[in-house]
Amino acid sequence: MWMAYAADPSPLQDFCVAVPDANAAVIVNGKICKNPNMVVADDFLEQGLNKAGNTSNPLGSFVTPVNVNQLPGLNTLGVSLARVDFAPYGINPPHTHPRATEAFLVVEGTLYVGFVTSNPADPAQKNKLFTKYLYPGDVFVFPQGLIHFQFNVGKTNAVAFASFGSQLPGTITIANAVFGSDPPINPDVLAKAFQVEKNIIDYLQAQFWWNIN
Ligand code: GLV
Ligand code: MN
Repeated sequence: MWMAYAADPSPLQDFCVAVPDANAAVIVNGKICKNPNMVVADDFLEQGLNKAGNTSNPLGSFVTPVNVNQLPGLNTLGVSLARVDFAPYGINPPHTHPRATEAFLVVEGTLYVGFVTSNPADPAQKNKLFTKYLYPGDVFVFPQGLIHFQFNVGKTNAVAFASFGSQLPGTITIANAVFGSDPPINPDVLAKAFQVEKNIIDYLQAQFWWNIN
């Protein structure tokens, strides 16, 4: 029997700068390591996070990721980050990161944020919602795997920086995954699961589900 594991490990060396080599025979945590003698300071540098992302989209928000795919020096080190821009009333819709807890720092604007706990042991109880209004300088934590969102409730733009406990946290946007999958989930499945008429599911599946990250 073959088993494969993948995780953000404790590094076994100072660094393992990722090299994009599709033919690599030896890989560490998904990427081949650059020869340490060839590693340069630029392998650990990403620039431009002072620039706002373009929020002209149906959600009015934009995520600029800085994970191992943009910054190869992050490979095997277990952290990454993102800049998140919000137009007035822009939303980062409910989503989860399967591989990371997120610490979210607001630097501009006012955001209403929250997360929901996983299903309680007692089936008679509900999943619990935790919410806050965040202002510049506030940090809020979204625990690994839990559904969370951020909504710009101010009349001005908002800017935040998210840091993650993974070099590649992954994102599942709930509505996109459920109603916008390719191919679509059988609408009978969703009608029963969401306890609504099938025409509501047809309507939702016909929408364009914009992915911002
Ligand atoms: C914010 O929640 C983000 O994942 O960028
Ligand atoms: Mn997030």
